[in-house]
Amino acid sequence: MPSGPTIILMLKSAVVAVTVLLLLSLWALKRGNVRLHGRLNHLFFVLTMTTVLGFEGLIKFGVPVTTHFQEDDYSALRFHLAFVIPLLPVMVLMLMTGRWRKRAFHVLLANVFVVLWAGMFVTGVFFLPH
Ligand code: HEM
Repeated sequence: MPSGPTIILMLKSAVVAVTVLLLLSLWALKRGNVRLHGRLNHLFFVLTMTTVLGFEGLIKFGVPVTTHFQEDDYSALRFHLAFVIPLLPVMVLMLMTGRWRKRAFHVLLANVFVVLWAGMFVTGVFFLPH
């Protein structure tokens, strides 16, 4: 089993990878390719959920992911989770409203989603130690 720092580094890499996918989906949207935007975001959704549930599973099975954390790092983790926890239901709603073509609600929610995603990204990639 990889060490805690390695697992955190793998999670950071996964976050960067899915963010690239999200940015590609927005580029597709800008070019008017809504279908590609939808397809990329289906992939984005599955990969993000797999990462979050995989991490949750590791903790549940007692894998020591945060044993190298200092006191301050736990505050950083709580700050990070404050973005992650609301992000998950918002992401589910983004997928549903996109699929159901509820355009106005989808775009409104996109503002909340982008703020939460940016917060999750910065606090996760830059504040958590690996
Ligand atoms: C972050 C900023 C985002 C913006 C500004 C945005 C915007 C849009 C817009 C304008 C449409 C076209 C809606 C229509 O014409 O009815 C759309 C479609 C869609 N979006 Fe998003 N979206 C974003 C993120 C997401 C995310 C995160 C997901 C999924 C997790 C998602 C999933 C979809 C799906 C599935 C469609 C339908 C595609 C199709 O009809 O083939 N979007 N989005």
